[in-house]
Amino acid sequence: MIYDNDEFFEQYKRLRLDDTGLNGKMEEPCMRPMMGDVSGLRVLDIGAGFGHQAVWLKEHNAGEVVALDPSENMFSHATALHGDKGITFVHGYYEEQVFGEAFDLIVSSMALHYVDDLAPFFAKCYRDLTEGGQLIFSMEHPVCTANPTGYSEDEGGKFWRLTDYFQEGERVQTWFVDGVRKTHRKLSTVLNALMACGFTIRQVEEPSPLDREYPESEKKTDYFWIRPSIVVIKAGK
Ligand SMILES: C[S@@+](CC[C@H](N)C(=O)[O-])C[C@H]1O[C@@H](n2cnc3c(N)ncnc32)[C@H](O)[C@@H]1O
Repeated sequence: MIYDNDEFFEQYKRLRLDDTGLNGKMEEPCMRPMMGDVSGLRVLDIGAGFGHQAVWLKEHNAGEVVALDPSENMFSHATALHGDKGITFVHGYYEEQVFGEAFDLIVSSMALHYVDDLAPFFAKCYRDLTEGGQLIFSMEHPVCTANPTGYSEDEGGKFWRLTDYFQEGERVQTWFVDGVRKTHRKLSTVLNALMACGFTIRQVEEPSPLDREYPESEKKTDYFWIRPSIVVIKAGK
């Protein structure tokens, strides 16, 4: 679990708590409107991290909010920061959890590229949802996970080195530290895995700087501009 590597975690924490990363710029402004009215809903946040989505859900009158994360670092920081906000924090892997009651909404931000096998994961999400419930998640875009080695630059501009897109499987990259493991899948594999479980795909978004106020000076040179960073998917039971 890379989030329990202290060197990695300290750097990730700085990025995430300062909100200088893609969550604040792209992910939350895209994903939150997709949730609609959450008031009264029983919600599960898979890979809740520091609890940003869980806190927002509570502030928007969700009913019970269960925030789950397998990282000891994440769990202890989230409970220290937000233990008084009526959120149920759970320490553990989603795949290993048994819940007594189904959820109206399952959300997951930027966690699913750490999951090796998505088919049983989605099947469990389907079982853990009420009839008519929704699964809404973001993940690193397959264009990014295919070859996570960064950019090339020449007189023509800055380019993302997209290759190996069709070779699905493990990727080991340097992100703050060496040896960060993720799993690359084609976008079609993700969508087909959802549909194979019985989900109906309701919305697919690839947020870009064009979607919102974005400093002109950051466009073109910013890596968010050059290729899709994330994909956000809403699927209904
Ligand atoms: C990039 S962080 C995102 C945290 C938070 N959702 C956010 O957006 O700020 C990814 C998180 O996914 C968690 N994670 C990885 N695999 C998981 C799994 N199988 N079940 C639940 N959480 C998982 C990690 O521990 C980590 O906290």
